[in-house]
Amino acid sequence: MAEVINPAIVPKVTLPSGEQVPCVGMGTFGSDRVSAEDVSAAVAGAIRSGYRMFDCAACYGNEHEIGQVFKDAFDEGVVERKDLFIMTKVWNDMHRRVEEACDKSIKDLQCDYVDMYYIHWPFPNYHAPGCDVDSRNPDSKPFSVEEFMDTYRQCEALVEKGKIRYIGISNMTIPKLEAVLPLMKIKPATCELELHVCFQQQELYDYLVEHNIQPVGYMPIGSPRRPERDICPEDVADLEVPEMQAIAKAHGVHPALIALKWAHQRGEISIPFSVHNYASNLKCVTEDPLTDEEMATIATLEKGNRLVKGQVFLWHGANDWHDLWDEDGVIVK
Ligand SMILES: NC(=O)c1ccc[n+]([C@@H]2O[C@H](COP(=O)([O-])OP(=O)(O)OC[C@H]3O[C@@H](n4cnc5c(N)ncnc54)[C@H](OP(=O)(O)O)[C@@H]3O)[C@@H](O)[C@H]2O)c1
Repeated sequence: MAEVINPAIVPKVTLPSGEQVPCVGMGTFGSDRVSAEDVSAAVAGAIRSGYRMFDCAACYGNEHEIGQVFKDAFDEGVVERKDLFIMTKVWNDMHRRVEEACDKSIKDLQCDYVDMYYIHWPFPNYHAPGCDVDSRNPDSKPFSVEEFMDTYRQCEALVEKGKIRYIGISNMTIPKLEAVLPLMKIKPATCELELHVCFQQQELYDYLVEHNIQPVGYMPIGSPRRPERDICPEDVADLEVPEMQAIAKAHGVHPALIALKWAHQRGEISIPFSVHNYASNLKCVTEDPLTDEEMATIATLEKGNRLVKGQVFLWHGANDWHDLWDEDGVIVK
């Protein structure tokens, strides 16, 4: 049995509402490599190890199995529903039918309501599960404020109905946020974005904090086993950077734990996925913090190492994946 970490000693992050949530949640994307059964077994172990936050998504294809694990934990009295902070996401092919998608996630996850419901990507461009990097959907379109706000309004209605507690956004850029934030009645509580030591997105991070939106960092370890379609020859292995190796050696731990300590001390929520190391990933934020000097060293490791480039979401006429990220400060159409 994995080590147990008392959830009370896990540091908390304060959401804009004032609610406190754990600074580490568990990711549940098996990266097309880990089966739904193995992911859900890890979730079962993680609950018993002290995790209270889980990052799910309809498109990860494992909500049904994870829901059974949640139900077992409730039935066995391990936790009550209110003890868990369950996050999930509407997939791109359900932007016109958000309530139906949310109802299905609630049913599959057996969770009665969702704590944080994300719009997984800010456009409805769909790709088939497990597709390769060159596949393109002829129906894909560039970002549209109207389309996004239609999806967002449906999320706002779900808050009003009590089906979700908070709205989250994901894979956004500053120009897109500038366009949509003034139109929202209920502000998003969090934004999920790719964050790891060689991809720190400091400008977007600061923008979110300034706008009272809590950053939630995905791929905090640099996703060493990400899907084939997200692996490019130019990618950097974050944990192999000499500075990370040296800091890990000084603390006598795996560099993955240094990455998670850094994320926590920077102020984000991180959502590492693990089937083998989840207990140490939660424990590491409760002990042996990085020094100011180590934090400053890691701040210098930015290498523009975006791993989820998003090629499969490109529309006809787009140049390349850079168009998805509005790098010149305007929304690319
Ligand atoms: N919003 C979005 O669009 C979006 C996109 C991508 C991901 N996400 C979310 O973010 C989560 C995390 O991303 P990710 O799973 O791609 O990457 P990640 O958490 O950076 O990396 C996971 C990998 O790191 C290994 N690992 C974890 N802890 C370790 C440790 N202490 N020592 C050594 N190896 C360790 C795991 O292997 P072991 O299993 O062997 O420990 C696993 O292969 C996902 O599961 C998903 O929930 C969201």
